[in-house]
Amino acid sequence: MSREATLKIGDLELGEGLILVPMAGITDLSFRRIARSFGANLVVSEMVSAEGLVRENLSTRYLLQSHPEEKPLTIQLFGAEPEVMAEAARMVADKGADLIDLNMGCPVPKVLRQGAGAILLRDPERVKRLVAAVRGAVEIPVTVKTRSGWDQSHINGLEVGRAAEAAGADAITIHPRTAKQGFSGIADWAFIAKVKQELKIPVIGNGDVTRPEHVEQMRQVSGCDGVMIGRGAMGNPWIFEQAKQLKAGRKPSTPSPQERLEVMNRHLALYEELRQGRPSLTGFRSRLMWYTKRLPGSARLRGELGNCRHLETMIKVCEEFFSTL
Ligand SMILES: Cc1cc2nc3c(=O)[nH]c(=O)nc-3n(C[C@H](O)[C@H](O)[C@H](O)COP(=O)(O)O)c2cc1C
Repeated sequence: MSREATLKIGDLELGEGLILVPMAGITDLSFRRIARSFGANLVVSEMVSAEGLVRENLSTRYLLQSHPEEKPLTIQLFGAEPEVMAEAARMVADKGADLIDLNMGCPVPKVLRQGAGAILLRDPERVKRLVAAVRGAVEIPVTVKTRSGWDQSHINGLEVGRAAEAAGADAITIHPRTAKQGFSGIADWAFIAKVKQELKIPVIGNGDVTRPEHVEQMRQVSGCDGVMIGRGAMGNPWIFEQAKQLKAGRKPSTPSPQERLEVMNRHLALYEELRQGRPSLTGFRSRLMWYTKRLPGSARLRGELGNCRHLETMIKVCEEFFSTL
């Protein structure tokens, strides 16, 4: 695929292939709607437990809330049992999912203990069975998101990629850190190139894309077909639009303080809507902090927000902060 080509996964045409990562507790429906409105070609749900889904767990139902603005709807599932994953996949496909992503990279102990997430990097045979079961259960595209390996002595992400492709995965995302690394160190984009050279399915690169120019840099280093952005988009949904402007040879636009405030307020309104008018104080505060993080005086603001006990006071403090910029 040439670098000018668009990303295609199954029948889904995904333009420039800029994707918002799944992040538990962060990429909820409110964030996904904002990211789509700023040009993300695809957004992915927070990870959803296949077991929880099959057992009709309440918190799982919350994670499945969706809105037409986020289409194509992508649900990420995690689990260890092929039959359960297949059943969960059927359920989300019936609910209108357009794509299913399988989490094979989460290093959180609670997930690993279930035999799911990054522990699968140690068991390519199970990867094959899981992907094959889901592939056989639904018509929509199925993708896998994984890491470079389990630890420095087991850099087996490529093996997992081969297993996923052989079992019918339509694309793979590589976050080139090991499970043991968690989020420390630097994402090794050269590893994405290795996977890209070996596999026929589209390869999506992920890790440390925090500035719009990183998108093209990652493509050049790795030849990847799409780019997933996570932490670099928190409080910064402009990154998708800016990367597209750069690609088109234009100077990326910088949001004014007023625009930043408006988008923050829109995000918060969508978050309140999602929480049915009862957002958690912590959730609200962290979203305010995302949007003010890199601005002058944000450390002082962070302290002030920490002392606020009501949403209204937080908003007032933030508005005053923006009026000084
Ligand atoms: C708070 C947090 C939650 C995450 N949750 C998920 C998740 O639910 N599923 C998943 O595949 N990856 C998850 N990740 C990993 C991200 O999708 C991504 O691979 C990682 O943050 C590297 O990309 P970035 O450097 O662009 O942030 C999470 C990361 C963070 C920081």
